[in-house]
Amino acid sequence: MNKKKFYVTTPIYYVSGKPHVGSLYTTVLADVLARWQRLLGCDTFFLTGTDEHGQKIAEAAKNAGKLPKDFVDGFIDAYQKTWHAYHVEYDKFIRTTDVEHKKAVVHLIEELKKKGDIYKGEYSGWYCTPCETFVVGQPGVDGTGPVHPLCGRTMVHVSEECYFFKLSAYQDKLLQFFKEHPDFIQPRERINEILAFVESGLKDLSISRSTISWGIPFPGDSEQTVYVWADALTNYISAVGYGDSARAQEFAQWWPADVQIMAKDIVRFHAVYWPAFLMAAGLPLPKQLLVHGWLTVDGRKMSKSFGNVVDPMDLLSPYGADPVRYYLVSRLSVAQDANFSYSELEGVITQDLANELGNLLNRMVVLAYKHDCAVLEKPVQWSAHVDKLKKAHDGLLLLVSDYLAQDQFHLAYAEVKRFIGQVNAYVHECQPWVQAEQDKQQFIETLTAVASSLYTIAHLLWPVMPRKMHELLAALGYDVQLDINAVVSQAWNQAYTLQKIAPLFEKVEGKRVEQEKSATAQPTAEQPAREQIETIEIGDFARVHIVTGTVAAAEIVQKSDKLLKLHINCGTYGVRQVLSGIRAYYTPEELVGQQLILVVNLKPRMMMGMESQGMVLTAKGAEHLELLKPSAVVPDGTRIG
Ligand code: MSP
Repeated sequence: MNKKKFYVTTPIYYVSGKPHVGSLYTTVLADVLARWQRLLGCDTFFLTGTDEHGQKIAEAAKNAGKLPKDFVDGFIDAYQKTWHAYHVEYDKFIRTTDVEHKKAVVHLIEELKKKGDIYKGEYSGWYCTPCETFVVGQPGVDGTGPVHPLCGRTMVHVSEECYFFKLSAYQDKLLQFFKEHPDFIQPRERINEILAFVESGLKDLSISRSTISWGIPFPGDSEQTVYVWADALTNYISAVGYGDSARAQEFAQWWPADVQIMAKDIVRFHAVYWPAFLMAAGLPLPKQLLVHGWLTVDGRKMSKSFGNVVDPMDLLSPYGADPVRYYLVSRLSVAQDANFSYSELEGVITQDLANELGNLLNRMVVLAYKHDCAVLEKPVQWSAHVDKLKKAHDGLLLLVSDYLAQDQFHLAYAEVKRFIGQVNAYVHECQPWVQAEQDKQQFIETLTAVASSLYTIAHLLWPVMPRKMHELLAALGYDVQLDINAVVSQAWNQAYTLQKIAPLFEKVEGKRVEQEKSATAQPTAEQPAREQIETIEIGDFARVHIVTGTVAAAEIVQKSDKLLKLHINCGTYGVRQVLSGIRAYYTPEELVGQQLILVVNLKPRMMMGMESQGMVLTAKGAEHLELLKPSAVVPDGTRIG
């Protein structure tokens, strides 16, 4: 009998930066789904990769002083190493610079042309380069570009000849499709935003650029480059052989995708443009889009300028890959925006994994060895003591599968956690350390019930923590069995040969603070003792806006022997009036024209009846007070960090 197939994709990530905990989240979710489907007995195909063309990448390469291809090549290793370190078992890593992919894109455009869905025209309007998207908007009063309502970044004006795709012709077909497939987008509420967008009237979509050359040449017109989103979306079919007659069977085997995962930022591309391209090319549409929320770090949007971007590689040594995966999958709800917090991460690892799961295994193995019972035979007849636990065990798979079928990862794993709690409660009630002395048969039954429960738990958690659960199963004398139904039915009907292993999980509470402490050197005899100071999170520091500004005017504040009043031009932060206690050290004349460094987001303060709207930074030497300045002049309003 043919096995069922399951094809899952992640977005392909822009290689203008390394992976971070946001891209890790998406990729781990895809890995969990793929592994879960393998446990259900499906043939799976898991695709991830990188999006390497377009204006954003071309500009980033230019800023780095590199040729685009050299620039993008430099990031691939970081992606692949991170995914490997996190045990992400993809089947293919696609790059949009791959020759096969480029051929497929050309093929798709030619199909759209044949269909009569492409025509030449001119685009004149706004473009958000970081999002690589055309947006309707009005310029600001000073002629600056409007802000992209979705990402908040300033857009640039683009006016160029290009090819258009007749997206407007698909408006009704898309609406009809959404109506007939209410589960197309998960969670369901996400469809509302898409419906509103489509119902407001679809405009034809520019699918080529004439001012960008880093990309795939538009078929039949070498002056034009394929629009990066048309190029990127095609990866989902090019990876499985679209457009290559020699791979027709492979394509038929995998396409359409079963689940395409992404965060909410790019749902429009996947729910509107992508289905329309596929409809135009006469191809089936993906079965489901799984859209997760946005991840913040310690309550703030992750951003280089805030300095709070979490590199997954930095989490490996303190916490390990599997515990981080567990935290992401079991604690963050897919439907909502979620916050990555170190203290929560440490709490979850310590409580769920070290205290509840790791300890359970450890206690059982230690007791078994102590009483010479490392081989646990299944009892001839289970006693009534196990009834409650066995019932919970037997119902668990259904609960977990139901939640996973609805992409409710956190609820599915909450059920597993609950069951682990029940096993711990069972041990507590049975007191096997007492049974060992009084009733050996009962003692063996208790240990066997725990081992049987752990056998199922390990399999249910294997998609999330593949390495650790492999170790847990080894401690029970087994390997992973890729058939969850068989696992559950065998769990209480087989013998276990227990092996001693090192503790599975470490308690990690306070680890981050500890690490930060050990990063500060110990005082030596020659060094003065370090000041004892409270540490802050990088996010706390990032909340302070420290910027450069040039003194436009300065004067003495009458009736004050300390204060000077300065007007400092801080670029986009405006001209700030600052009252500063530097009169004893500087004359107003010598300050005008000097570029200083100041904090601009302190609450304004009244001094001598005037408002001070910033604080210039100084360093007090033995005799003089030095005003801090950048070592070379930079634009006013440049943020320091
Ligand atoms: N290259 C496009 C996607 C093309 S797919 C045909 C792109 N790339 S991206 O590098 O910006 O990655 C976007 C995806 O990365 C998001 O949709 C999401 O899956 C993941 N995430 C990036 N930052 C994230 C968070 N802060 N939080 C959650 N997911 C995040 O868009």
